[in-house]
Amino acid sequence: MEKICHDPKSQIATDQRFVGKVLVITGAGGQFGRAACRYFGERGARVAALDQNAEALEGTFAEISDGMDSKGFVCDVTNASQVASVVERIVERFGRIDLLWNNAGYQGKIQSCLDYDPLDFASVMNINVTGMFIVLQAVARQMKQQGGGVIVNTASVAGMRGTPGMIAYASSKAAILTMTVNAAKELARFHIRVNSISPALIGPGYMWDRQNALHAELGPPYYADTAEKVGEAKINAVPMQRVGSLEEVLQSTAFLLSSESSYTTGINLVVDGGLAAGTK
Ligand SMILES: NC(=O)c1ccc[n+]([C@@H]2O[C@H](COP(=O)([O-])OP(=O)(O)OC[C@H]3O[C@@H](n4cnc5c(N)ncnc54)[C@H](O)[C@@H]3O)[C@@H](O)[C@H]2O)c1
Repeated sequence: MEKICHDPKSQIATDQRFVGKVLVITGAGGQFGRAACRYFGERGARVAALDQNAEALEGTFAEISDGMDSKGFVCDVTNASQVASVVERIVERFGRIDLLWNNAGYQGKIQSCLDYDPLDFASVMNINVTGMFIVLQAVARQMKQQGGGVIVNTASVAGMRGTPGMIAYASSKAAILTMTVNAAKELARFHIRVNSISPALIGPGYMWDRQNALHAELGPPYYADTAEKVGEAKINAVPMQRVGSLEEVLQSTAFLLSSESSYTTGINLVVDGGLAAGTK
């Protein structure tokens, strides 16, 4: 006799990795963050959801189920005193912080490096690098006091191999790769693991469409002149010949956040269908 279970609801019920874990997610009003609040909340995590955009955060809470133990915090990750006070409030509310998905980000403008606006460059670096560091530091201090924790930073394949038109974004994501390695080495002695995740070409949906439209606007010689052709060219360049799903990003993030990766720290897990395979 054999039973093969394809019911996603029963798979969720049997996934015990996050039950009772206190998970902080930044960028919780955005595409990844919103899906993550649902994904980890459905698996029993107690979620502290942070975003600077109150409306986007409300949108997330409208979508996730009433049964989840979660709370939203409006917070600008670039503001160190705001982050410190939100971390205090999270600990008051949930008692501790076990896991952090450090995920808030801003992609910046799509402009050639010859035209790129230095003010926007600074803003991308401030949100993606300084903001990520501020949250990492505040949460790691709390984790150290508790005796450990797990952090995942969202980087990008752009930070490994560059993306024409996105010099600020690519530079910021490259900095996150090194921040992850550095923090992993320093924090290992406090039983805090730090890894990064680098997705690329995740779709379909708003981010995929928007990105292709913006790349088409920049156009030749870097991209085709319509969003449709840009999308086709990107998929043709992926060994797996398809886009990745949000679910696939979440599964990889869950692996890094869970004890399944208990002897793994300082790595960058690439979720890109092989696009950047072999890139150092
Ligand atoms: N979507 C993709 O295909 C993709 C691919 C690779 C990497 N990423 C990275 O994944 C992360 C999430 O991407 P997404 O697709 O969900 O983007 P998104 O734009 O939908 O969400 C980003 C969220 O971050 C929030 N945010 C921005 N600045 C903030 C600040 N200063 N303080 C607090 N919150 C702030 C925004 O309000 C937004 O809700 C980002 O770091 C992004 O660079 C995304």
